[in-house]
Formats: sequence, C-alpha cells, structure tokens
Amino acid sequence: DWNMPDYITEAVEKIRAQVGTDEVILGLSGGVDSSVAAALIHRAIGDQLTCVFVDHGLLRLDEGKMVMDMFAKNLGVKVIRVDAEEQFMGHLAGVTDPEQKRKIIGREFVEVFQVESAKLTNAKWLAQGTIYPDVIESAGKGKKGQTIKSHHNVGGLPETMKLQLLEPLRELFKDEVRKLGVALGLPHSMVYRHPFPGPGLGVRILGEVKKEYADLLRRADAIFIEELRNAKFDFVGGESLDPDQAPQNWYDGTSQAFAVFLPVKSVGVMGDGRTYEWVVALRAVQTQDFMTAHWAHLPHALLGKVSNRIINEVRGINRVVYDISGKPPATIEWE
Ligand code: XMP
Repeated sequence: DWNMPDYITEAVEKIRAQVGTDEVILGLSGGVDSSVAAALIHRAIGDQLTCVFVDHGLLRLDEGKMVMDMFAKNLGVKVIRVDAEEQFMGHLAGVTDPEQKRKIIGREFVEVFQVESAKLTNAKWLAQGTIYPDVIESAGKGKKGQTIKSHHNVGGLPETMKLQLLEPLRELFKDEVRKLGVALGLPHSMVYRHPFPGPGLGVRILGEVKKEYADLLRRADAIFIEELRNAKFDFVGGESLDPDQAPQNWYDGTSQAFAVFLPVKSVGVMGDGRTYEWVVALRAVQTQDFMTAHWAHLPHALLGKVSNRIINEVRGINRVVYDISGKPPATIEWE
C-alpha cells in the first residue's frame, strides 16, 4: 500500500525517463483506465501527449462532450475528437450477431485510430490504460483456448504501427487506478463510474444496430442513471466500488446499471389512442468481480419513477421491463 503523492512522483519520473522528448499518442475512451493513464501521462509530459477520442456513435448521452470538457477544457490535454458515427453505423448495418458486432466495432476502432495516429507523424509511443488484471486475463486467454466474449480493448498494438508501448498502469489493480485518478484531480463521479463495455451501446441494442435505436436508448439510459444517482441508498448489503465510502445513492450502491434496447414492439395506450412502440429493459447488478452478479433489489418506487419518466419523455418507447436474472446463468450484458 503506497503513498499516493510519492507514487505519482515516481510514476512521472519513470514516464519522463522512458519517453524523453518523444511524442506519445493515447486512445481515450472515456473509461476509467484510459482516463487515468491520460491524466498521469499528461502530468509527466504535458503537450508531448496527444489523445485520440473516437466517437463511434455508441456512447452514452453527452459522453463525448463530457470527455472533451474534462480533458481538453479542464485539464488542458490535447485531444483529437473523431466523429466516426457514420462509418460505424455503415459497417454495422444488417449485422445481428453479437460477436460479429463486437468484431466489427473493434476492427473499425483500430482502423479509425490508425488513420488518426498516422497523421501524428512524430509519435513514437502508443500509451494504453492496461491494468494488472488485463495483463493476467490476456495471459490466461491462450491457455483456456476460448473466450466467452471478446474484449476488443485489451491487447497489443496492431502490427503495422511501429510504435513502442507505454503502459503506466500495468502494475495497478482497479481500486488503485481509481485512487490514482482522484489524486490526479479527476472528479470522483468519473473515477467511480460504472464500467462501460468497449463496444458501447452496440451490445445493448439487441440485434441490428441503428442510429434511431441508439438515440432512444441513450435517452432512456440517461434517465435511469439520473434517477439512480438521485435515489437515496436504503439497502443493506450492497457493494460500493469505493471501499472507503458507503454508498449514499443507488448509483453507488450498484456495480453496473444500464438500459437495453429490445427491438420488439408492443401495444400501449396514450390518451385516446393506441401506441405500438419499442420496449426497453433496465438492468442493475451488484457484484464483487463481475464474474457472478446479483440483480439489484431496486425499490419499486424508484423503478416506477424511472419507467414513468422514460415512457413520458422518450417518444417511441411505451414499455419498460426490469431484468431479474442473476449471473450465472444470464450475463450482465444482454449480448
Ligand atoms: P458479462 O456480460 O460477460 O459482462 O457478464 C461482464 C463485464 O464485462 C463487460 N463487458 C465488456 N467489456 N468489451 C468490454 O470492454 C466487451 O465486449 C464486453 N462485454 C462485456 C460488461 O459490461 C461487464 O462489466
């Protein structure tokens, strides 16, 4: 258990010694790991770092703006934002298989990142937010010979990129990465955010991914998250991501919570009329390690409020259901 300011000083020295006056590029996803890596490397080498943020159109509501505000505006980090929504939607059109969708999103991600980084001709290093559990997981993969779901954001750099790897979080566990993030000045709400999969809403829109679905899902999801954050935590036995702080609200009292778009239409009534619109499922789980998980016993009043708000505020959705499946046998994500 090291002392955080000392750790930062040491890590900064190490990064400076490693890269010298070279330029570094980093793929910023908005997730905890790449964000903390960016903040740490920026602390060490300032403008020698350029981040590339790929918006694949499958991010949460206002996520792109949030990332740009936090890094470019507040921290003064050089960030190139790439709007690649059309490219991703184009390649995903007509594709319904979950693993196929993951492959396409992973492939296009690398493609976009390569194109952008090729423009930064002075870059000699590729920084990644690889953490210790990723190192272990990747090492284990070959032996097990199979993966349940392919995680595209783990792994080495593409063969064609002649860059050296800079991975300053390689020895850290997740809780240590979070503490480091807070010590580097990242907001607690960002550092203790629920995990979000690399393929983003691409695996939370069941079957074919369409922009129309993503737009509906983003709004439903944002309402759910907002209400979880506003709801006082009143449950004994929940797991908080921050071990030093008991959960105060239901967002912190759950390990992961999100909405899922079901490409199913059901009948409803509104005023004098009949509606025939989409269904959204809510998922909220409590878990230690994400390998097994319990569905969260959210208060009925909270679920009711979320459902009312989604149906009233998101035109196009007329039914909300709550997922009460544990893992196993269900997975946390629906795809
Ligand atoms: P499952 O659905 O397998 O999810 O119970 C366990 C955890 O992994 C996340 N997850 C992913 N993360 N790329 C990612 O980066 C993926 O393809 C992916 N699939 C699942 C999921 O959000 C949960 O935290």
